[in-house]
Amino acid sequence: MENKFPLNTLGLSHQFMAAHIREGAFCIDATAGKGRDALFLCRLVGESGRVLALDIQADAVAQTTALLTAEGVAHRAQVVQACHSRLGDYAAPGTVDGIMFNFGWLPGGDHTTFSHAATSVAAVRAALDLLKVGGVMTLCLYYGRENGTAERDALLAFLPTVDSRCYTVIRGDFINRTGDVPIPVFVIREA
Ligand SMILES: C[S@@+](CC[C@H](N)C(=O)[O-])C[C@H]1O[C@@H](n2cnc3c(N)ncnc32)[C@H](O)[C@@H]1O
Repeated sequence: MENKFPLNTLGLSHQFMAAHIREGAFCIDATAGKGRDALFLCRLVGESGRVLALDIQADAVAQTTALLTAEGVAHRAQVVQACHSRLGDYAAPGTVDGIMFNFGWLPGGDHTTFSHAATSVAAVRAALDLLKVGGVMTLCLYYGRENGTAERDALLAFLPTVDSRCYTVIRGDFINRTGDVPIPVFVIREA
């Protein structure tokens, strides 16, 4: 696990995942990008686990596949080019131990292709259904540059409406940092 100082939003997400995911788990990286989170999940789930990684861009699918292959864990993963709003086509309800969303654009790629409010809210809605009881999800919300604030605002409007009888949803704030600090969100399916 990366343990960089200062702790950032993605580092917190990794810590949360590592605290919950065990060998043999089934996890989803819903924004595969360069494959670093998929690699992290492949290592957490171990030889007997399984990772599904999705990205809308062919370049991200290629980069993720190349990284997982180079690291010798590609056999633990399925990497698909698809919109994460279609997550429900790739996994059954109540079967997933952990799901990561790291929204925004492909690092080092085209900044005009990024995740958007409508599909991101649909994807999180679908992901909630896929989680097992005891399953967890992390969201890293980026905003303020090319992607503006629409996605952040839509997700932060949707998340408080999630049924509190079944899910705990926690939002983190770096209250002593300035600027457009990405927002971490943590979800636990309780029932
Ligand atoms: C910040 S990057 C993810 C970083 C990645 N997890 C990693 O470890 O390198 C965000 C990714 O989300 C992808 N993305 C944007 N919209 C998407 C969508 N509707 N469905 C799936 N992926 C999407 C982008 O193509 C981009 O690669």
